[in-house]
Amino acid sequence: MNVELPPGVTAEDELRQRLPAVHAQSDLPDKVTIYEVGARDGLQAEKLSVPTTAKIDFIVDLVGAGLPVVEATSFVSPKWVPQLADAADVLAGLGPDLSRHPVLVPNMRGLERALASNAAALAVFVSATETFARRNLNMSLLQAVDAALEVTEAARSEGLSVRGYVSMCFGDPWEGQVKLRQVSEVSKALIDAGCYQVSLGDTIGVGTAGHVAALLRDHEAIGIDLDQLALHFHDTYGQALANVHAGLQAGVTCFDASAGGIGGCPFAGTATGNLATEDLLWMLTGLGIETGVDLKAVWSAGSKMTALLGRPSPSRVAQALTP
Ligand code: HMG
Ligand code: MG
Repeated sequence: MNVELPPGVTAEDELRQRLPAVHAQSDLPDKVTIYEVGARDGLQAEKLSVPTTAKIDFIVDLVGAGLPVVEATSFVSPKWVPQLADAADVLAGLGPDLSRHPVLVPNMRGLERALASNAAALAVFVSATETFARRNLNMSLLQAVDAALEVTEAARSEGLSVRGYVSMCFGDPWEGQVKLRQVSEVSKALIDAGCYQVSLGDTIGVGTAGHVAALLRDHEAIGIDLDQLALHFHDTYGQALANVHAGLQAGVTCFDASAGGIGGCPFAGTATGNLATEDLLWMLTGLGIETGVDLKAVWSAGSKMTALLGRPSPSRVAQALTP
């Protein structure tokens, strides 16, 4: 059958832009939540100063694509992360309902700023390792956990929801291998303090599928349910999708990703981009897993941002879809 193509679109473009065939697997979840981090984790390490309006447009486009949560920015020290110094202006441009736009907060000063900007949802962040706690937060691991617990308690008493992140869960560039229990105990402290979910970060992308399964089992062994966990992969070693699949097989239903695959951590030199939302969506679509997100709309938003940053998207799906 001959299908008439839109003007300027070649048969080859059309083939590229189709979605994958769907073959569901009965042992995987039916539905997954994608927690979008492009505007925060994606942009925080960018040297080029992205205009506030472009950040707001990026977030609005991602919400329009159907993403249920789009983390907006960080109330961290502007000296440490100059790219996100406009956090208050970004929230002002998104208001008034900020419930689907969590913001990262490192300490009570950050909480004060977030509250003054009408934030409704927070994310606190700690490391599973001593060295990264010092490099990322200028605190010992114990001090960092205490600071996160203090922020969590104060934010919850103001009615805000709080998510926790644990970084370096699968390996640390300074300390090497990280023990499973070292990670799960930090997660437990955050959950006990009232975080509704903890996202396990593979900050430098070294994790592999068996490690994901083992880490999840260790969390369950100390009483943490899988529905209290999310997985946050960086794709440095090309393992992110395999790791998501291992998470799905275990029963995890929330995954962090960044449109356009942008991202990295300014305080962990070997961290590259996050798992691209486009790549995650391609896989989930093929598995028949519902997300409520429009892959092509995410691709369009991610492409606009990577064009502004002046380089092609590292997302393999974005590259394959782009004529
Ligand atoms: P410090 O310099 O040790 O802070 O930084 P301090 O408490 O000594 O204060 C120094 C100055 O900073 C003071 O100002 C404070 O008021 C100010 P001065 O008196 O000199 O004018 N200050 C602040 N200003 C604005 N907002 C604040 C704030 N706090 C202090 N919240 C600090 C300590 C924690 C602030 C700093 O280390 C920091 O901001 N770190 C954040 C680093 C960061 O954002 N890292 C990336 C996010 S984590 C990540 O990407 C991993 C993740 O994606 C998961 C994964 O991949 O693993 C989540
Ligand atoms: Mg990250």
